[in-house]
Amino acid sequence: MAQRKKRVVTDEHKAAMAEGRTQSRAIAAYLDALESHKPKRGRKRTAESIGKRLEAIDKQLGSANAIKRLSLIQERLDLLREQESMGETVDLSSYEDDFYTQEHVQIVTALIEHFGVDPKTESDGRLVVRHIGQSLVKAMEMARKAGGPPEAAQLVAAECVVHAETKDHLNWELLGEAARGLKGEEAKAVKDALKEVEEQEDEHLYHSTGWCRELWIDSLGLPAVLPPPEEEKDVKTAIGAARAKKARREML
Ligand SMILES: [Fe+2]
Repeated sequence: MAQRKKRVVTDEHKAAMAEGRTQSRAIAAYLDALESHKPKRGRKRTAESIGKRLEAIDKQLGSANAIKRLSLIQERLDLLREQESMGETVDLSSYEDDFYTQEHVQIVTALIEHFGVDPKTESDGRLVVRHIGQSLVKAMEMARKAGGPPEAAQLVAAECVVHAETKDHLNWELLGEAARGLKGEEAKAVKDALKEVEEQEDEHLYHSTGWCRELWIDSLGLPAVLPPPEEEKDVKTAIGAARAKKARREML
């Protein structure tokens, strides 16, 4: 067996780790703020003042750093929700997806930095993951350009999403397992990250799997539950997903 090399921590590496810890603290503080986030009292906002603030946020987003960007996206989401509560028609779903995607990227980036690794490092594993991701996009494009019925392209897209979400879900689960072997601040950093994303990732996997299954059943000419039971029952756990799947026959 090859002998393990002695780990030498350079000054540069130490500085990177210190920087990572600062970033991680900033993320943790941000997540705490999110948890305790409550609408502020005071002067009531009008539709006009909300519109102006949204415009300002869009301008700031271009030059904001990662942490600031995350808080701006959250503020934009809150303002859009407020706008919606005033009776305006706002499509929040794409903004929410944008927020969660950005948030998950930030959380993982902060974690990588916390452990003293440069998140821009191009490892062999990263190249493989990128290749798989690009292949899924290519498969969806192939199906769309094939000229068949749009339902067929939709099925391919649903399958690609399930492929990606299955691995995404497993990755977070593995991080949780890895955290068991850590102690102190390192364990806390991983557990805090997981606490934030676990429910969202469960939702991604179970809802996309439900859509894929029902779309397939529909394409086979059999009675399908659309939207799927997982979506209708707002499933957020593995047990909930199993129950929803079991209940589908009663929902036909
Ligand atoms: Fe996901």
